[in-house]
Amino acid sequence: MKNWSLIIILAIIFSACNFENKSHLESPVIPRTNGMYPMPSSFDITEKTVILLGSNDTQMTRLANKLKSQIDSICGFDIKVQDVADAEGLRNVILLSFKNDMKRIGNGGYHMEVDKDKVVIQGKDFNGVFNGVMTLSQIILLDQIKEEDAKVEVPNIQVWDQPRFEYRGMHLDVCRHYFPVSFIKKYLDVMALYKMNYFHWHLTEDQAWRIEIKAYPELTEIGAWRTEANGEKYGGFYTQEQVKEVVAYARELNITVIPEIEMPGHARAALAAYPELSCTGKQLEVPHTWGVFEDVFCSGNEETFKFYETVLDEVMDLFPAEYLHVGADECPKTRWEECPKCQKRIKEEGLNDEHELQSYFVSRMEKYLNKNGKKLIGWDEILEGGLAPDATVMSWRGMQGGIDAARQEHDVIMTPTDYCYFDYYQAEPEFEPKAIGGFLPLSKVYAFNPLPKELNEEQQSYILGGQGNVWTEYMETEEYVEYMLLPRMLALSEALWSREKNKNFDDFNERLQTHKKLLTKLGYNFSNGSYQIRVETKFDTATNENKLTFTSEQYEPEIRFIEDASMILDSGEVFNKAFSPQASGVITAGIFEDGKLMRNATQIKYEKHLGLGQDIKLLKKPNHKYGGETNAGLLDGILGSDNHKDGKWSGFKGKDLVAEIDFTEPKDLKSLRFSYIQHQGAWIMPPKAVSVYGRTEGQAYELIYEGDLKDLLNIKKPNQSEVFVELNKTQLVALKIHVENYKKLPSSHTYAGNECWLFVDELILE
Ligand code: ACM
Ligand code: ZN
Repeated sequence: MKNWSLIIILAIIFSACNFENKSHLESPVIPRTNGMYPMPSSFDITEKTVILLGSNDTQMTRLANKLKSQIDSICGFDIKVQDVADAEGLRNVILLSFKNDMKRIGNGGYHMEVDKDKVVIQGKDFNGVFNGVMTLSQIILLDQIKEEDAKVEVPNIQVWDQPRFEYRGMHLDVCRHYFPVSFIKKYLDVMALYKMNYFHWHLTEDQAWRIEIKAYPELTEIGAWRTEANGEKYGGFYTQEQVKEVVAYARELNITVIPEIEMPGHARAALAAYPELSCTGKQLEVPHTWGVFEDVFCSGNEETFKFYETVLDEVMDLFPAEYLHVGADECPKTRWEECPKCQKRIKEEGLNDEHELQSYFVSRMEKYLNKNGKKLIGWDEILEGGLAPDATVMSWRGMQGGIDAARQEHDVIMTPTDYCYFDYYQAEPEFEPKAIGGFLPLSKVYAFNPLPKELNEEQQSYILGGQGNVWTEYMETEEYVEYMLLPRMLALSEALWSREKNKNFDDFNERLQTHKKLLTKLGYNFSNGSYQIRVETKFDTATNENKLTFTSEQYEPEIRFIEDASMILDSGEVFNKAFSPQASGVITAGIFEDGKLMRNATQIKYEKHLGLGQDIKLLKKPNHKYGGETNAGLLDGILGSDNHKDGKWSGFKGKDLVAEIDFTEPKDLKSLRFSYIQHQGAWIMPPKAVSVYGRTEGQAYELIYEGDLKDLLNIKKPNQSEVFVELNKTQLVALKIHVENYKKLPSSHTYAGNECWLFVDELILE
C-alpha cells in the first residue's frame, strides 16, 4: 500500500509540474488557483443534476440555492437541491460539504474535484466552500463564453486553492458622486465573481453625507445635497432600509461591508448641517469643489463626541462587520491651532500638539467602538501623534505607514496610491481626460505585492491584505466607474489571492481575454488599457549587440514601425522579436488593430555608442521612482523624452551622479555626452560641474576632465540640453564620471533650501 501511495503522490507532483504553466488551458479562472490538475473525465450539467448539501446549515443552503439559480438561469433547468443523506443511487451530483482535516488547505481554502458523475467542493469553513462555488460559477460562465448552448461542461480538473490574503477589498466613494443601490449591487456582484470579500463603503465626505441617521436628520436633509457650479442641485442618500438591503445582499455574496464615517476632517457636509460642531461655528455650504478643507470638527467640544457616538450607535446597528472605518485622513490642523476649545483640550489632556489632539480624537472613538465590540480602521494619518491602541491601519500614502504600523504590531491593509488607486489613469492620458493622479496601468496593479521586503516574517503577519480604491471626483456615471474598475480589479484580485510564485502577467493577460467577453456579456463596461509601447534592452555580450524588445501590456500586440526605422527594419514591418539597431536615430512605432493605429505612435530616441552594455556601478543610488531599481538605464542607448517620468531618466535627489564604468575591453574614447533637464518649477536643476577620471590597464585613475557648468543656470526656462566633454584618450579600461548636483534649491527659488533634483538619461561614450 505504502508504495502505491508514494507512486500516486509522485504522479500528482509530476502532473502538477507539467501543469504549472498551462492551467489556463483547462479553465481560465481568475484569480489563478493555487493548483489545477487534470483529471480523467469532465462533468456535464444536465436537468438531472442535483446539488447535494453535506451540511444543512442555513448559510450552506442559501449558497446551494444561489448556485441552483445560476445554473437554472443559464440552462433553463429547474434542478434540485437536497441533503446528501437522501442521495442514495444518485448520479450527476454537485456536492458541497465541509471537511475539517484537509492538511493542504487553510481558512477560506477549498478542494474541488470533477469526474464523470460528480463535482465535489469541500472547504474547511464556509468561506472555503463559498470560494469553491465561486470558482465553479466562474467555470460555468466561462464555458458559456466558449460555447453558448444549453449544455454546460465542467472541465476535467482537480483544484486545490486558498487565498494568499484574508482581506481582499474594494472601496467605493459614493460621496463625490452618488450611485444608487442598484449599482452598488452590481458592483458587489462583480467583486464576488472575483473573490473580493470586503466592500469599503465611503459614506461621508466634505461633498456629501450619504447615510440616514435618525438622530440627526439634517445630515441627509442638508448634507446629502450640494449646489453645483452650474446652479443645479446634486445629491442623494441611502435610507437605513436601503443600507440593510445592501448589507444583506453583500452577505449572500460572502462580502463584508465596512462603512466609513469620516472624522474629524473631510466633514464639511456634516458641518453644513450642524455648524455648531466646527471650531468657528460659521455656517458653510456643502462644497461642490474637490480638495482638502480647513473646516473640520472641533476636538475641544464635547458635543462633537456626543454627535459621533450617537451616529456610530446607529451605524453599528446597521453593519454587522467587526470593523468600522473612521477615516481620519487629511485633517488640517489650522482651525484647531486657533480654537480656544481645542487649545484648552490640548492643555488639559497634556498633549504636545495638534497631531496628538487628532490622536486623542481617534483613540477616544476607538475606545467607544471597542466597548461596543467593534474594531477601528483608519487611514495611515492615524500614525501621526501616536496610534490608537488596537487600530488597524489602511496604508495609502505608499507602504511606509503600513510598515511602521506592522512594526508596532498593528494590523494593516495595504492600499498604496501607486498600485491601488483606480482613479489614476490606466490608458494614455489624452484618452482619459477625467482620470487623475499618476499612471496605474493594468500590469502595475498586477505587480502589486502587499508584503514589503522591509518586514520580517512575524511583522508581515500583520498585513491582512490589500484594497483597491475608487474615488469618484471625476467619475460621474456608472459606466465610467466600471471602466475605471475593470479590468484592474481582476489584476488586483489575482495579486491578493494567488501565490506570488504563480503570478505571471502574460498568463493572466491571456486568461483575461475570455473574461473581457464575460464582462461584456454580464453588462459591464471596461477599459482596454494602455497602448503604451515599452522598450526593454538587453546587451548580448557574445555578439556585442544591444538588443531591443518592444512590448506592451496589450495581449499579443501588433507593433509596427512607422517611419525612420530603416536602420532596423523596413517601415510597416510587424515587430515581434528583439533587434539591434545598427545606427543612432529615432524609431517610431505604434500598435495596430485591424490595420488601424491605436493611440499615438511612440518615438524612441536611440544612441548607438561605445558604452552600451558596459558594467556600470553607481556609487549613489538614484531615486527609486527614477531609475533606482537598475543602473543599466544610463548605458542602454535609450534617451529620455520631454517627460522626466518616462522611466528613461535617472533622477538623483540631493545627490550627485557618481558612476564607475568597467569596460569589457580597452576603449579609445573621444568624448562623453549626456543630456540633463532644467525645470526649476519641478525642483530640477542643471548639473553644477562635471569631472571625468580614466584608467588604463594596471594604472590608477587619472583626472581627464574637470569643468564648471554654472553658466547653465543662466538658461531659466524649463529646457533639456546636452553637456559635451572632450576626452581623447586611448586604451581606457575604466572610467569614473562625477556629475555634481546643486543639492539644494538656490536662494532665488520659492522653496530655497529644499533638496533639488539632477536628471540624466544616458552617458554617451564615443
Ligand atoms: C485618501 O485617499 N485621502 C485616503
Ligand atoms: Zn475647536
